[in-house]
Amino acid sequence: MNPISIIFGVLFYLSACSAFEVAKTWEISNYQRTLDVLKSYVKDRTTIVARNIGSEPSAEIYAVVPGDNKDLALQVSILESPQLTAPVLSSELVATENGFNYYRIQLPFPMAPKSEIRLLLSNIIVNQISTLVEEDKMGAPQYLQVHTYKEPLSVYETKKYQLAIIGAKEFNELSTKKEGAPEPIPSKERDTYIFGPYEGEYKADHFDEFHFSYRHDFPLPHVYNLERNFWVSHWSNALQLEEYYELSNKAVKLDSGFSRVDFMNSKLGHSYSSVMNSIMIPLPENVETDGVYYTDKVGNVTTSAFVHGDLLLKPRFPIFGGWHYNFTLGWEHKLSEFSHALDGALGEYLLKVKLLDGLVDAVYENVTLSVYLPEGAKFINATAPFKWEDMVIDREYSYLDVGSGHTKVTFHFSNLVDELRGLNIIVHYRYSVLAMLKKPFVTAFYIFLALMGLYFLRKVDVNIKPREYVSKPASK
Ligand SMILES: *[C@@H]1O[C@H](CO)[C@@H](O)[C@H](O)[C@H]1NC(C)=O
Ligand SMILES: *[C@@H]1O[C@H](CO)[C@@H](O)[C@H](O)[C@H]1NC(C)=O
Ligand SMILES: *[C@@H]1O[C@H](CO)[C@@H](O)[C@H](O)[C@H]1NC(C)=O
Ligand SMILES: *[C@@H]1O[C@H](CO)[C@@H](O)[C@H](O)[C@H]1NC(C)=O
Repeated sequence: MNPISIIFGVLFYLSACSAFEVAKTWEISNYQRTLDVLKSYVKDRTTIVARNIGSEPSAEIYAVVPGDNKDLALQVSILESPQLTAPVLSSELVATENGFNYYRIQLPFPMAPKSEIRLLLSNIIVNQISTLVEEDKMGAPQYLQVHTYKEPLSVYETKKYQLAIIGAKEFNELSTKKEGAPEPIPSKERDTYIFGPYEGEYKADHFDEFHFSYRHDFPLPHVYNLERNFWVSHWSNALQLEEYYELSNKAVKLDSGFSRVDFMNSKLGHSYSSVMNSIMIPLPENVETDGVYYTDKVGNVTTSAFVHGDLLLKPRFPIFGGWHYNFTLGWEHKLSEFSHALDGALGEYLLKVKLLDGLVDAVYENVTLSVYLPEGAKFINATAPFKWEDMVIDREYSYLDVGSGHTKVTFHFSNLVDELRGLNIIVHYRYSVLAMLKKPFVTAFYIFLALMGLYFLRKVDVNIKPREYVSKPASK
């Protein structure tokens, strides 16, 4: 974000009053929000208790999420009470105004007047964290800033709220504090700061700007583009993956040129800092990984190692703020671990591939994932627990092809984060030649995978820890 857009952003925040009108069917009796800034993006998790104050049953409720639509990596709404077996609710973006996204959340059935529900809204928002200063000396502590809101973000009136911030070491509020507002109560152990709970009448559609800084001596990995290409070969029972990363570090930049002598003396290669010295790629668990290679523009990079089953890459140079490093990575798995014949549908297969593998803490601006089916295979369908921007089916010829070439299925996603690593894309295809040789597989697999998708979505949310901080009483 450039300074001008920050200034405009601030003006917007200060004057942000929603023009988006909804029926005030609900009242929020308790609003508890947790912002987790431990990683290079914001995890925003809100639990609300809402009461139907209308005279009619209501089957929908609206939620507000800060940021532009393009900043949202994930939005999940879960009904916690009343309890259901399928608590993930469907929600739809209905408006984006003044830097806020408005969601309509569909409840599983109409809630009677006076009844209460408890909802968990989990959002992952990118582009909300920036460095406090653009440039600094090598080895200086790094301070980051977040612009957000303190009072309840809601289109309904709220009676009680609390805001907790997790991972904000050396937290410092930069926005003007309200007259007489108590200091946040820090929880020392894990750099958690809690405002509230406060009780009162918090107006609907009233958003109160809140700007803070904190210390974060870690890189801010940002992948501009990631290409993931999977090659399916039944013939050699192999699933090959090649990934191409255009990686950068959004951390604070060096204020003077890079000096290797200063770098060696600073010991930045060995301590926590905003410099990226190595890249950790967690590999899929419980499956064999073979033939790992790692190359960059210069050629084969030999400094990679397996550490507890993860791949540890050592780039040729330390990646400082604003620097780029593009590299290619590849490996191979046994196809039988990922592709299964469908029972009762001769020659049909379900292939399950991971949305993401690499980097422990990263934002992915563009992800292009392609699956090259074996020659002669026909694409049937694909599912993902996550919405793709587009899916393209085309054919590609490689020099070994004699027939019709490979069918290539390409998905494009934007704004993913490493936490979505557990999610899979399932490609359903027909490949009749080998069908008879494969072991039949249960039809229930499809349904199972769909359920696994939901399970992972819930897991993503559960990872936005820790719950106990949210409910801990913060004032005497
Ligand atoms: C990401 O993809 C979109 C659409 O394909 C493209 O317009 C945009 O320039 C890409 N971003 C980067 C950083 O390459
Ligand atoms: C690496 O990727 C970036 C885009 O993210 C691009 O601007 C740059 O030219 C690439 N560098 C090389 C050496 O390909
Ligand atoms: C890269 O280096 C490794 C280790 O020296 C070697 O085993 C591998 O064959 C090389 N790969 C290429 C493509 O040169
Ligand atoms: C593809 O899958 C979706 C559900 O994921 C289903 O609604 C659709 O009917 C399927 N299409 C075909 C052609 O099977």
